[in-house]
Amino acid sequence: MSDSAQPRRIVILGTGGTIAGRATRAGDNVGYTAGQVPVSDLVAGLPAWEGQAVDVEQVAQINSKDMTLPVWQALVARLVAHLQRPEVAGIVVTHGTDTLEETAWLLQSVLKPGKPVVLTCAMRPATAVAPDGPQNLSDALAVVQAPGARGVSVVCGGQVHLARDVAKVHPYRLQPFSSGEAGPLGVVEEGLLRRFRDWPPAVPAPVDAVAAARFVALGSLARVVWVTSHADADGALIDALRLQAQHAPELACRGIVVSGTGNGSLHQRLQAALQRARDEGMAVVLATRCPEGPVVPWSGQPFADLDGLSPAKARLELAWRLAEA
Ligand code: SIN
Repeated sequence: MSDSAQPRRIVILGTGGTIAGRATRAGDNVGYTAGQVPVSDLVAGLPAWEGQAVDVEQVAQINSKDMTLPVWQALVARLVAHLQRPEVAGIVVTHGTDTLEETAWLLQSVLKPGKPVVLTCAMRPATAVAPDGPQNLSDALAVVQAPGARGVSVVCGGQVHLARDVAKVHPYRLQPFSSGEAGPLGVVEEGLLRRFRDWPPAVPAPVDAVAAARFVALGSLARVVWVTSHADADGALIDALRLQAQHAPELACRGIVVSGTGNGSLHQRLQAALQRARDEGMAVVLATRCPEGPVVPWSGQPFADLDGLSPAKARLELAWRLAEA
């Protein structure tokens, strides 16, 4: 393919979040409503995007704390449609920060895109005196156009994270994400990506359209509950879930992700209840409540972990796998 035949068009899909937030008082960085400003307005007039061939689409307009399966399905469907267009080089998705790590993991796990899908966001609303959204959107353009870019990444505060590692670790600061001990993929400096690590695995195609079609066809995700072990924990909640499964099968919880203390240790009362739940057919997955590092396998480990995923990502992955099973 000659240089001039390289795909150049970028698609921006809006889903809401603080980046599209509006406050009644300029300068209020916390008392605003997320998901108000159309994504077309967010990108209009940004110097980095001037002259760029771009298609802009509003897929949703929500606070990401309220994410649902239908919104994810709409996003996956639009991503597949655009990624399959030969002229499209990559896609930028605007999203709230609060559940961004879950959406990023879902998109990587389902789509494994061979083209770049870059999620970006903001910690201050669009009406802030000094909003961070415009810079993040400009940096997202640098990442989506970086040579060899593929897979799902997250751009915020000048840092670029991979879907597998990214987690929101701060409720306020402009760099709220961390990739933990894996470290970020890279940083964006003056419109250029400086990369420290390789891009994530991808299918040898723009997107895994078969897996995406299966996801879009789901009537629901399996109900999976996330609980945490802690000092003085007990098994009452788990036993209540077991009772509910017996008396209201349509509401039955099919899986439990438990964040253990340290290397996945569990209070003995909670562990006993989880074993009762597993004996009755619920899937139980172990994770750690430590913010960094996976559970290191140990002899006598009562439940398996899910590829070292964080509890939030393990919950989603299990909900999808069980829905498909
Ligand atoms: C949201 O997640 O939609 C609101 C919070 C944010 O974007 O920072």
